[in-house]
Amino acid sequence: MSLKPSVLPRLEASHHEKIFALAVVAAGLGAAELRITLPPETATLKPGPGAERANSICLTCHSADYVSTQPRLSRAAWTAGVQKMKAKYGAPIQDNQVDPLVEYLVRNYGTEPAKKP
Ligand code: HEC
Repeated sequence: MSLKPSVLPRLEASHHEKIFALAVVAAGLGAAELRITLPPETATLKPGPGAERANSICLTCHSADYVSTQPRLSRAAWTAGVQKMKAKYGAPIQDNQVDPLVEYLVRNYGTEPAKKP
């Protein structure tokens, strides 16, 4: 007997869906009271300088969750991340857009303390 494709779990289930599915399983196991706290709205990246560019380039293939659920990353890690999106996944990022994108990511999702403007 072969598995019907329709009963296979969706491989592309979003992070939220996975959390919800876990919660449902937990509830089914008899958790007395279950509170589900949804994370704040994460449909777009954090606002601020460069956000428009990041939203338009980084959200064409995946949700903002891919960025916002990362731990805070170093400049080197974000640089490597942007380069990976460009080289490995073919993200349409011009060479002169790499630095501004990294700048935005470091400022909003990085480990460096925020720069004074
Ligand atoms: C051309 C499509 C595409 C674009 C554009 C894109 N990504 Fe990705 N990204 C991917 C794919 C594919 C994955 C891997 C998905 C998976 O493993 O489930 C990924 C995964 C990620 C991850 C998870 C960690 C990892 O390395 O797998 C992060 C963080 C990320 N992307 C950030 C970004 C940022 C920041 C941008 C904008 C500069 C961006 N992405 C633009 C395709 C893209």
